[in-house]
Amino acid sequence: MATLNLGATVGEQLRAQGVSRRGFMKFCSTMASVMALAPAFAPRIAAALDKAKRPSVIWLPFQECTGCTESLTRSHAPTIENLIFDAISLDYHETLQAAAGHQAEEARTKAMQANWGEYFLAVDGSIPLANKGYSTIGGVSNVDLLHQVAKGAKAIIAIGTCASFGGLPKANPNPTGAVSVSDLIKDKPIINISGCPPIPIAITGVLAQVLTFGQLPELDHYGRPKAFFGQTIHDRCYRRPFYERGQFAETFDDEGAKQGWCLFKLGCKGPVTYNSCPTTKWNMGVSFPIESGHGCIGCSEPDFWDWQGLYRPLSTTRWGGYQALGVAAAAGVAVGAVAALAARRKQRPVGEDQT
Ligand code: SF4
Ligand code: SF4
Ligand code: F3S
Repeated sequence: MATLNLGATVGEQLRAQGVSRRGFMKFCSTMASVMALAPAFAPRIAAALDKAKRPSVIWLPFQECTGCTESLTRSHAPTIENLIFDAISLDYHETLQAAAGHQAEEARTKAMQANWGEYFLAVDGSIPLANKGYSTIGGVSNVDLLHQVAKGAKAIIAIGTCASFGGLPKANPNPTGAVSVSDLIKDKPIINISGCPPIPIAITGVLAQVLTFGQLPELDHYGRPKAFFGQTIHDRCYRRPFYERGQFAETFDDEGAKQGWCLFKLGCKGPVTYNSCPTTKWNMGVSFPIESGHGCIGCSEPDFWDWQGLYRPLSTTRWGGYQALGVAAAAGVAVGAVAALAARRKQRPVGEDQT
């Protein structure tokens, strides 16, 4: 975790951490690109971040698996995203901070008082309502703590599908009565950065955008930043030409799979999943699930655990039957066009009637 320097600007904090100018500019260019801005915006982003006062972020972990925090911190070397995130944040993080017990709670209270109305609240994990005692921090239930800290927050960032939509804890039959942050907080701006876990650069990107332009990003109908969730995985998937030609892998080790054909018939949920994995990728730009040979499981969408099964093709109940797809696939290009059209009709959450 970064050394705390409350008065430092983002630029000063980054320099103190040994981030090179080149690394910083690379990050700013990436930010400009993911925010769909011209490359010429990179120096403006750099200048703004350089002068921006380090904002206070309080991170509360509720019913979570720590995967969201791991996604930010687990790499063999610190990434620029990690460094930026440390530089502009984290006055309190239950999992990462050295302090524990009363000391930790005191740190949170102090950060809240010093930055009342200005701090960002980051939350990972869902909130159990069936019994407040299912998840507590310092003897305070998640739901009470959320209300308490949200009160003084400028905005709330729900990190991961659990905090954004309930996620895994909310999967049927939802034994803890798990809900999302936006189910409980109605009077603060909430940015949902979904994903199980979410892409680190989406988190840092949102913070960079707030710092650079002084405003919250444009959100989609699920409260997710459009810059990162504006298109489906399918829209940007490099296997799309195979889909359009009706060339599908039927098993994970058949000839089609070896040739890198489309994974639609193996259950890929890319056509109905909004995220930017195909462009930002994972593990410092190495790859993303589809590039590793596995279909997208829809991890950034509400209730994806309760969809029709991770390996069942979407067509079985949504696009007129698997058999129909098979027939059309034989016709080559036609299936791609029809299925693509069906995918574009999707806009409603999976699980709802699409007819
Ligand atoms: Fe874990 Fe996924 Fe929930 Fe994050 S969103 S806490 S990775 S289950
Ligand atoms: Fe890529 Fe999946 Fe779409 Fe096929 S169905 S093109 S693998 S996103
Ligand atoms: Fe999740 Fe699909 Fe990306 S499973 S990590 S949204 S490719």
